[in-house]
Order: sequence, then C-alpha cells, then structure tokens
Amino acid sequence: MPNFLDIHTTSAEDLRHMIDSARAMKDARKGRSKGELDDDLPLAGKMVALIFEKPSTRTRVSFDVGVRQMGGQTMVLSGKEMQLGHGETIADTARVLSRYVDMIMIRTFEEATLQEMAEYASVPVINGLTNRTHPCQIMADIVTYEEHRGPIRGRKVVWSGDGNNVCASFLHAAGQFGFDFTFTGPQVLDPEREWIDFARSKGVNVEIERDPAKAVSGADLVVTDTWVSMHDPESAKERRHNLLRAYQVNEELMSHAKPDALFMHCLPAHRNDEATSAVMDGPHSVIFDEAENRLHAQKAVMRWCFGK
Ligand code: CP
Repeated sequence: MPNFLDIHTTSAEDLRHMIDSARAMKDARKGRSKGELDDDLPLAGKMVALIFEKPSTRTRVSFDVGVRQMGGQTMVLSGKEMQLGHGETIADTARVLSRYVDMIMIRTFEEATLQEMAEYASVPVINGLTNRTHPCQIMADIVTYEEHRGPIRGRKVVWSGDGNNVCASFLHAAGQFGFDFTFTGPQVLDPEREWIDFARSKGVNVEIERDPAKAVSGADLVVTDTWVSMHDPESAKERRHNLLRAYQVNEELMSHAKPDALFMHCLPAHRNDEATSAVMDGPHSVIFDEAENRLHAQKAVMRWCFGK
C-alpha cells in the first residue's frame, strides 16, 4: 500500500518525483481561481477522509481544497466526534473506514496510532502530523526553497529553537534530499538521536551548535517553529520560553546568514517569541509561500499514493 507516513521511509526517488510534480501542478494552475478543477482529475470518483485529533488550519484547508481540485470528495472528521475518541480501536476504525473511503489522512498524537491505522487500512494513509514528525510540511518547504533558490542539495539549513516534530522531518529531508543541517537550541530540546543518525547515514553533515550566531553563519535557510507544540503541556510554557529566548530568530541573527538566505516558519507563529515580526514580514521570509505550497505538495503526495 503506498502510504505516505514519513520522509525517511519513502524513497529519495519518489520524494523527488513528488516535489517536481508539485511544482508542475502549481505552474499549471497559474491564473486560475482556487475552486477551478485541474485539467486531469487524478482523484475523480475518490472519497478522502481527513481525520483531526488536534487543531489545524493549513493542513485541514489545503488537503480539502487539494482533493477537490483533483476531482475528489472529502469528509473532515474530528477524532473526538468519532468512536475513535470513545474506545473503538484504531485497527477496527481503519478497517471500517476502508470500506467507505479511498484514502485516509490523519493528524494524531502518537506515532503508534498512525502506524496502526496504516497497518489495518486497505487504502493509502497519509501522516498529517504526529507528536514525532510532520512530513507534509517539509515537502512543502522543499518546494518553497527550490522555487526561490533552485536545488536544495548541498545547501546549509539551520534550525533554531525546539528540536520538535517539524525539525525531525527536516532532518529526514536532509538525508533524503542531500543538504547539510545545523541545529541550534538548548541541549534538553535537541532533536532525537535516531533522526540525526538517519541524516548522517545518508552522508550529509549534521551539526549541533549551541551558539545561534555561529550556527546561522553561512546559512542558506533559517527555520524555526513555535516554542510550545500542540502536545506540550501548558505548564511547560514558562520553562520553554526561558530556555529558548536566546534562539529567537530576529534581524540580528539573520544578519549572520548568507545575504540571500531564506527564512521559514511552518505557522502558526507566536510573533515576537520564536521569530520577530520584522523577520517574518521581512525580505528573507517566504512563510506564506510555504503555507500555499502545502496545497501543491500534498496534491503531489496524494497523486503518488494513487500511483499517478
Ligand atoms: N503548519 C501546520 O501544520 O499548520 P496547521 O496546524 O494549521 O495545520
């Protein structure tokens, strides 16, 4: 079953195909209104379930619009309103949904939930974010980098802040797309060793540098994310802010990157915490292109899941 569960579990060749396909589909839609159908309709007759156990703006809307542009239909389901939230097993849910729909996208908490859904579903399953990874976001980020600056292979990407699920998928992408990756943040929030080892096993340079200015030196791309993720307890907020304040992406920090460096943030952002508004709205920022490219990248992922 062609599931899209993670970047490190998908072949580099297939990932490259999806990025190129996303850019071609984006180009083909230039000048069209958002609700207009694509010329070919690869999801014609297909029904897609979009399950959310956590809040979402971008993932929810971009998947919904993407399916419709490709001629399919969607149903958006909240985990809480399903029997899934009231004791029915993931395995049974997967088998039942597979009788009704042609594809399942799920945003959930535990990675084990996604894996169980994929194991028992007889239709493709897509990871719309877990506590551990966020592959669709990074596919959109690769599209965004390459449309602005050309191939990402050999470039230097710097992540400043919390080594969270988005950072994890960036590390996977470093290995699969062949770019160097530097993490700067407090040691207690380092990305998982397993992901660092994965990227290094593919021959790319991965560094941990506690000094953010040194880390950002020579960067082609600087990335950050919210300091408190959806699965972090509210009680962790003050401690995390204290730990991460030194890693805020501001104009001074960006001045250490290459003059043409890009700035990315997957959004939603807490402006003037992890990044200042001056950077988010400044000349390096491509944050709204990233948000738009969720649509194009995920359309390519869905096409691939259907063998197109
Ligand atoms: N970046 C992202 O996944 O946004 P949402 O949480 O709004 O879907």
